[in-house]
Amino acid sequence: MLIPQDEIAKQFNFMQAVARLNEGKEKYATVKTYGCQQNEADSERLAGMLVKMGYILTENEQASDLILVNTCAVREHAELKALSITGQYKHLKEKNRDLLIGMCGCMVSQEHRKEDVKNKYPYVDFVFGTSMLYKFPEILYTKIRSGKRQFCLDDSEGNIAEGLPVARESRFKAWVSIMYGCNNFCTYCIVPYVRGRERSREPDAILEEVRLLVKDGVKEITLLGQNVNSYGKDLPSPVSFAELLDRICALEGDFTVRFMTSHPKDATKELIDVMAENQKIAKAFHLPLQSGSDRILSLMNRHYTAEHYLGLVDYMRKKMPDIALTSDIIVGFPGETEEDFQKTLEVLGKAEYDNIYSFIYSRRVGTPAASMPDQIPPEVSRERFARLIDRQMEISNRKNKDYTGTLLRVLVEGRSKTDETKLTGRSEKNRLVHFEGDDALIGTYADVLITKTETFALFGELKKN
Ligand code: SAH
Ligand code: SF4
Ligand code: F3S
Repeated sequence: MLIPQDEIAKQFNFMQAVARLNEGKEKYATVKTYGCQQNEADSERLAGMLVKMGYILTENEQASDLILVNTCAVREHAELKALSITGQYKHLKEKNRDLLIGMCGCMVSQEHRKEDVKNKYPYVDFVFGTSMLYKFPEILYTKIRSGKRQFCLDDSEGNIAEGLPVARESRFKAWVSIMYGCNNFCTYCIVPYVRGRERSREPDAILEEVRLLVKDGVKEITLLGQNVNSYGKDLPSPVSFAELLDRICALEGDFTVRFMTSHPKDATKELIDVMAENQKIAKAFHLPLQSGSDRILSLMNRHYTAEHYLGLVDYMRKKMPDIALTSDIIVGFPGETEEDFQKTLEVLGKAEYDNIYSFIYSRRVGTPAASMPDQIPPEVSRERFARLIDRQMEISNRKNKDYTGTLLRVLVEGRSKTDETKLTGRSEKNRLVHFEGDDALIGTYADVLITKTETFALFGELKKN
């Protein structure tokens, strides 16, 4: 499952070979990313390989010699966005015959989508699935040398590739994948089909990566996995996620650790205890509920009840009264009645989330839920979705108001996109905070006194030392 080092070395040779072809020319490349943090982390590795192959990274597709679209398949909307942007690149190709267009990631890891691209997007030069990421240099080289379109999917259960180059977007925030794939097969979800089975990286490889990041000045590390609570179960010498966290926190330096995502069926008290005891772990927990109805949870194959879920929340709040809690919720799952939906609202009221990510159920080809009876009409889902958001807005608003007059430690990320006069950053609890300050603060922690609040953001003044 671990890709042998000589195979990785072979890919480094292909990187050099492409770099030689690009020598003396100014070649630009764009990586467009859709989907979750896992995809963003993958894109940073793809970008790292592109840099080694002599490309200069740019966000300007018009000026690019190569465009790579890293796709997501989680909902129809995500697929349509990736297909529509790729459709627009047709015009760029008409203007520049030498432009190379590639697609990778979750959407094109589905056989039927790969076939769609092959047949309907003739200007796409190469496609590779998530388990082929490490082979990108070879695929690109082969395309350039042979001129032939490349379509590379396999039906393996996935792999782990260590030692690939990474071009990170941020100098002070970093994603660290600790495991790949998912074994849970929630009945609505496509991820297990496009990301293969669960597999964990060796703890030493993770620790070394984090150590180097912290040494380079990275302040915030987010550990990634579809279900981090199953981390380490598949290793030759098993290590629990709680143990891994403990070992990461024992590394020297001033840094914060976050993680996502936790599955409620596997979230342990041990994990919550480790979190409560470790200063370095941000007191923010993302615990997807999906539905508050036990009947729907069972149809979703989630393996927990609303009561179990709320028990975890209680334990967390007992250990860490100020914890920020967030969740994912799906409305309109097949068979969801108004009564089921009311149960979701009930749990929402009890859990008092700081924020939620809510989604209208999207039918995914090949998943069990796609062929379940009683698919919910879109207008019913939309109406429930609006009610869910309304209820949450009230809660988020009230919770944000409580911040007025408090002092928050904020990791400063950059200039605000909507107001250039302000800096923007995130608090430990992931609140967006805007305030006036100097560019020199970017990438450092600042203390901000909160003076005004909105539903999705806080405003404040920099505390002068
Ligand atoms: N592994 C993570 C989440 C992965 S996908 C977990 O288990 O929590 C992120 C979120 O997308 C999910 O939590 C779910 O709320 C949502 N999602 C997944 N499949 C979906 C679908 N078919 N329709 C709507 N939302 C979906
Ligand atoms: Fe999808 Fe469920 Fe796996 Fe999360 S745990 S990725 S929702 S199958
Ligand atoms: Fe992530 Fe989308 Fe794939 S949510 S794992 S990029 S299907």
